[in-house]
Amino acid sequence: MWLSSSSVGRKFIMALTGAALVLFVTFHCLMNAVAICWPTAYNSVCMFLGANWYALLASAGLALLIFIHIIYAVMLTIQNRKARGNQRYAISHRPKNVEWSSQNMLVLGIVILAFLVVHMIQFWAKMQLQEIRGVEESMPPVAGTLFIQEAFSQPWTLIVYGIGFIALWFHLNHGFWSMFQSVGWDNTTWIPRLKCIGCWWVSIVILLFFAEGIVFTVKASEGYYKNDPALREQYKDMIMPMIEKDFGPDADQIGLQITMMPYDQVSMGFRQMEAQVDQQAKSLNTPEVKEQMKAHPEMAAQVEEMQKRDEALKRAVKFLDYLEEGEEKAAPQTNMPYGY
Ligand code: HEM
Repeated sequence: MWLSSSSVGRKFIMALTGAALVLFVTFHCLMNAVAICWPTAYNSVCMFLGANWYALLASAGLALLIFIHIIYAVMLTIQNRKARGNQRYAISHRPKNVEWSSQNMLVLGIVILAFLVVHMIQFWAKMQLQEIRGVEESMPPVAGTLFIQEAFSQPWTLIVYGIGFIALWFHLNHGFWSMFQSVGWDNTTWIPRLKCIGCWWVSIVILLFFAEGIVFTVKASEGYYKNDPALREQYKDMIMPMIEKDFGPDADQIGLQITMMPYDQVSMGFRQMEAQVDQQAKSLNTPEVKEQMKAHPEMAAQVEEMQKRDEALKRAVKFLDYLEEGEEKAAPQTNMPYGY
């Protein structure tokens, strides 16, 4: 097929997938800017996307684009090296205006790929992948700002991201105009203009990424994404969906109560519930009760349900502990009923 067998066809594919990736990166840096200006709105978008079919479709499409872009890049590099043979080791007579980045697109791509692996481990694997797997963790996978908190409170994150951003600047700066050249838009008037437009576009995008990385690092060091009151109100509403599968038939009722209460009350309420249920679960874990359960299977089912609820509440309290790390907490009272 022309697109994969000819050099022009391969360059065409590189240009098309490259253009789509430039648009993705631009959209992504604008999306991250929302996390700076309006973090609760950012989380709302994360909740809307999550692992819904449209988000999965977009992620799969994006992964395919990146995959095709990489495969064709390797094919083109091998083809160019074969064509040049031994000459590639000789000091070549490159025209002066051949940029450094154009000679190092593959290396820059590899650095970006390494950055992406780290980035996917820090975000995608803990968010979308967690939802796909349906694993119950003590962090809600839709709380985007908390994963920003986690990632950027590590001092090395900004350094690794900085290296990724610089490599991305060089890669996109060359890629931007050369993709137009690849699709045949090669004339002396437009190429300099496209170089100028590309340089501005890519520089703004990368500067925005840098600004975001710095703001996220500063705010994460202050624990802002854990203790901001507006964000906490939002996190509180994420608790029930996180545990409802193991919580039993009262989940909807309690979920409704939670939406009407402020964060502090919800936190105290969950701690009390957990202390109560834990006490009950422990009181049922005796040889006498186990003996009775053998004769009464319905009792065994009830105990099992209570144990599951206990596990779910423990996860909720672990999440609250994470949010309130270092803050003073009142001891939960086991004799206070809380809608349970
Ligand atoms: C300040 C810098 C950045 C932050 C805070 C950030 C944050 C995020 C977040 C929160 C996700 C969502 C994960 C999910 O919902 O599963 C994500 C996904 C992603 N990011 Fe970034 N990102 C940054 C920079 C970049 C850069 C520079 C690139 C490209 C070179 C990039 C490429 C991606 C890709 C490919 C995905 C997966 C998208 C998907 O699954 O649909 N990110 N990022």
